[in-house]
Formats: sequence, structure tokens, C-alpha cells
Amino acid sequence: MIRVVTDKATLRALCDAHRSSGGKVSVVPTMGALHRGHFALVDAARRHGDLCIVTVFVNPTQFGPKEDFAAYPRTLESDVAACEAQGVDVVFAPSSSEMYPPGFDTVVDVGVTAGPLEGAHRPGHFRGVATVVTKLLALTAPCTAVFGRKDYQQWRVIERLVQDLELPATVLAAPTVREPDGLALSSRNAYLSSDERQRATAIARGLSAAVAAFDKGERRCDALIEVARTPIQDAFDHIDYVALVDASNLTPLSVSVRDQALLSVAARIGRTRLIDNVVLGEDPAPVR
Ligand code: PAJ
Repeated sequence: MIRVVTDKATLRALCDAHRSSGGKVSVVPTMGALHRGHFALVDAARRHGDLCIVTVFVNPTQFGPKEDFAAYPRTLESDVAACEAQGVDVVFAPSSSEMYPPGFDTVVDVGVTAGPLEGAHRPGHFRGVATVVTKLLALTAPCTAVFGRKDYQQWRVIERLVQDLELPATVLAAPTVREPDGLALSSRNAYLSSDERQRATAIARGLSAAVAAFDKGERRCDALIEVARTPIQDAFDHIDYVALVDASNLTPLSVSVRDQALLSVAARIGRTRLIDNVVLGEDPAPVR
């Protein structure tokens, strides 16, 4: 039977007991509204541990004042049922006051890695992410924590903080899971009307066009960005960015790319903001 835990003390005690009897804890942090993308992380977590914990917490500190914290889908009951079917052992679903009790006064602030892309467009976002993930890793002390490449910069930010703060966990990143038409699965896809859902495929088409151009030898940054941007511009209401950065340290690339360039997109359609990315020379095209 899956266990649903809402308090930190019980979670810590469960993990401590498991570790002291020689077991391995693995954790998948999420905000719930779980989909196949999350379950791919669960698969990886189950391969790397024998107590698999999924955390479900819509973390208020990573949302800006004008963002979708209130509207974010909350589907705990079906999330727990799906976790049980996927072989998850424990769902940790704390309240906000359990995670941020009165007097809470510390943040984790990652530097350069958190600066561009999402960091530039969502001030304070990565501070909220880094702080909550540090807390979740401290509570569970896992061997392995699994994140998705869908949120590529988030993965790199977490990898950085785990290394810099000497946290004893291995951070793994799983590939982006997509719909058949290339749209990356996201809890926020639930916001899309059917017309918006059709138009949203433009991101996958743009990224795929850039992969095709790269594979044919195109290396100029402006040309690759233009190829990706064109379909997105037609279908979306606003583009926050289409950017090429070094895939390991996320520093901007301005003239030409070699290997390992991250092509990253954030764009808005109606009230929904979607992000996606590919690493040129590494990831397959989202639409084949
Ligand atoms: P959430 O958006 O729920 O995502 C949880 C994890 O699932 C993240 O590591 C994310 O990259 C991964 N994920 C989401 N969609 C995916 C897809 N289509 N394919 C593969 N992986 C996917 O990211 C967060 O929550 C939060 O910021 C969190 C890390 C939990 C901190 O609050």
C-alpha cells in the first residue's frame, strides 16, 4: 500500500529507517497534476532506489505575484492513485505551513546558472525552486533525486546547488516526454483551449526545424534562432525568448554553436506560458 505523508517528521523518520536498514531512498519532486512525464522520472527513481518518494507540493515561493499559483491544478487524489499504480512507495504532500512555518527566513540562491532564460523572465523563481528542493533533499536524504530535462535550466540549477552545498545525492535528468505531435507534456497544458492546444505544437515544430537545420550543418546562432522562432511567432501571442546558450553552464552563445548548445523557448498563448528546449547535437527532433 502506498503511504501518503503530510508531515515532515514522519517523512524523515520513514527515510531514516529505510536507510539504516540498508535501503536506498530515491525522490521525485513535483507540483502534482501528474502525467507521463512525471512517471518517466518515477521509473528512473525506482531503478535507482527501493523506497521511491514522490513529493507533491505547489510551492508558493517559486511563483511570481502575477503568475498562476492560485490556478495551478491540484489533483492530489488522482495523483496518489496514479503513483500507487506506478509503484511509488510514499507520496509526501505537505501544506504550505508545514514547509514554511512562521519565522521561516532562509533562501538558497544559485548564481550564474539561474541568471538567464527563466531566471531573467521570472525573478525569484529559481530562489523558490532551489530553496524548496534543498528542503526536500534534506528531509529525505536520498541516494538519487530525479528531474526532467523539460525544465533543463531547473535541472542545471539543482545540479549546481547539490554540488556547491555538498548534498550527498546523485541528481539524474530524464528525457522530455512528448505527445505524438511533439508537444511536451506539462501540467499547464490543461489550461489550453482546443484551439490553443493545436497552436501550441508550434514550439515543437520550431525546435524540430532548428534540429534539422543543425543536422544539415547550420551553426550560426541567429539563423538557428530564426528557424525556431518563425512558426512560434505565427502561432503564439507572445515570445518571452528563443535563446541559444551553452548547455553545460548556460552562458549565452552569440555567433556560432559547436556541440552541446541548448535551444530554449518560452512563449505565451492566451494566459498559458509554455517552455521547451532541445540540446542541438544531442536530443532528437521533437517532431519526426
Ligand atoms: P513540476 O512542474 O511538477 O515538474 C516535476 C518534474 O517533472 C520536474 O523535474 C520536471 O522537469 C519534470 N517534468 C515535467 N514535465 C516533463 C516532461 N514532459 N518530460 C519529462 N519530465 C518532465 O518542476 C517542478 O514541478 C517544480 O519546480 C519542483 C522541482 C517540484 C520544485 O517545486
